[in-house]
Amino acid sequence: MASPHVLVTGGAGFIGSHTCVALAEAGYVPVILDNLCNSDARVRERLQRITGSTPRLIEGDVRDRALLDRVLGSEAFSAVIHFAGVKAVGDSVADPLGYYDNNVHGSLVLASAMRQAGVRTLIFSSSATVYGEPDHSPIPESAPCRPANPYGRSKRMVEEALADLQQSEPGWRIALLRYFNPVGAHESGLIGEHPQGKPNNLMPFVCQVAVGLREKLVIHGDDYPTPDGTGVRDYVHVMDLAEGHVAALRHAERQPGLATLNLGTGRGASVLEVVRAFERACGRPLPCEVGPRRPGDVPAYWGDPSLAQATLGWRARRGLDQMCADSWRWQQGNPNGYAP
Ligand code: NAD
Ligand code: WQD
Repeated sequence: MASPHVLVTGGAGFIGSHTCVALAEAGYVPVILDNLCNSDARVRERLQRITGSTPRLIEGDVRDRALLDRVLGSEAFSAVIHFAGVKAVGDSVADPLGYYDNNVHGSLVLASAMRQAGVRTLIFSSSATVYGEPDHSPIPESAPCRPANPYGRSKRMVEEALADLQQSEPGWRIALLRYFNPVGAHESGLIGEHPQGKPNNLMPFVCQVAVGLREKLVIHGDDYPTPDGTGVRDYVHVMDLAEGHVAALRHAERQPGLATLNLGTGRGASVLEVVRAFERACGRPLPCEVGPRRPGDVPAYWGDPSLAQATLGWRARRGLDQMCADSWRWQQGNPNGYAP
């Protein structure tokens, strides 16, 4: 039987590119649709080196309905994994309409085009950010959703729209995957995360300090009610996440319905624990300074991944040391990302 083709929107990006590796390893043929607004087409050569085949890249926007009709009508896709979107919380506050347009409108255009083409299996990149500030950790999927910014609300709106769609047309097979804090890189060091400009997130910032691109890490507050006073998050290795998508796809193939699942490790790590683990990985001390709390930050949260384990048979296998070692390998080998 021919290998099933999967359309991966946003597949040139950080999580999407790692998922292309996991898909290829699981016997699927990933086809990337990406407008490259936050990625680099040269990722394809790296994917070729890892998997032995170069994924096709369709350069275009998920909001382009005519393009989607052409793409979905031209070959038989068994499923779509929808990563395409924008993800910077601060930018979403500054430009809510742009965020709703890309993340919400883009997802609606995609789902309608899939419906027309008869492709009804969809894995959607949601985020633990839909929970907002939780009452307790670990957070189960049944916790209330109180997203605190336009980015989080854009993810929640899409979740609700897709749940309504699945309710009205029960043939759909949809997984809403709520990622916690994705970090790390493929163990080859050939693909990884390369944020444009000054990184907002902890791990890319730590990487850039370690490689000498930035002078020091500013720890955003050490007076939180956590064991060492710094913020606690559920960091999950991007390859575990990638494998979670394959597991979600297999689950969707087995049965129609809607699954809403946390993808995290179930363990929290503080900023200082991440810094110490990274120092072990790179073998040098990282200059740090404690600054004020970052506005809008939640002190601590981590996910309850037990439903994903029960439903998909998936759990995160890679720990913080491996996340740091793999991030460091990628950063060291590719200080300019995919650019020479
Ligand atoms: P990323 O920016 O590396 O990847 C997103 C990709 O989508 C990029 O390649 C970008 O060029 C592309 N893209 C954006 N808008 C597009 C559009 N309209 N049409 C076509 N392509 C478009 O980000 P990532 O970290 O890989 O995130 C992937 C998805 O996971 C996003 O939807 C994000 O919101 C979600 N997510 C990310 C995190 C995280 O911390 N990285 C956490 C939870 C959820
Ligand atoms: C982690 C911890 C910071 C940078 C964000 C989005 C969320 C999700 C993932 C997509 C916090 C501290 C950070 C620095 C620091 N994305 N920190 N110095 O805030 O948990 O989540 O990215 O869905 O929506 O909000 O991740 O990596 O920014 O921060 O001390 O320079 O590191 O205060 O405690 P966050 P992060």
